[in-house]
Amino acid sequence: MSTWNLSETKHHVLICNGGSCMRQEGEEVTQAIRDEIKNLGLDQQIHTTRTRCNGRCEDACVVIVYPQGTWYHSITPDAGRELVKQLAGSHKEPISTISYSFENGYFQPNERTRVGINKK
Ligand code: FES
Repeated sequence: MSTWNLSETKHHVLICNGGSCMRQEGEEVTQAIRDEIKNLGLDQQIHTTRTRCNGRCEDACVVIVYPQGTWYHSITPDAGRELVKQLAGSHKEPISTISYSFENGYFQPNERTRVGINKK
């Protein structure tokens, strides 16, 4: 068991490893994100945690970034690498697969998510 020193940490990336996300490349996404963090020398700035189901299985593979409070859907291994680059500030285009953003004290759904909510 390891005990991380979080004093240099800027981002905490939660990678869903629940059943639905694991069927949508959850393991590959986890490895790609961790590999990109290592390649860019960002171990002190970006901490990752595997989670169980986050309750949004239709969005598999789900990745969540704090403290921004951004929930991403449909993350692939390549998208995971791009997300790490974005967090490092070296990727100009924001990752487009955001399902919820934290704004004004609440999680706000994006347009795609709003359509999904309205269907139910
Ligand atoms: S298994 Fe990932 S959100 Fe349910």
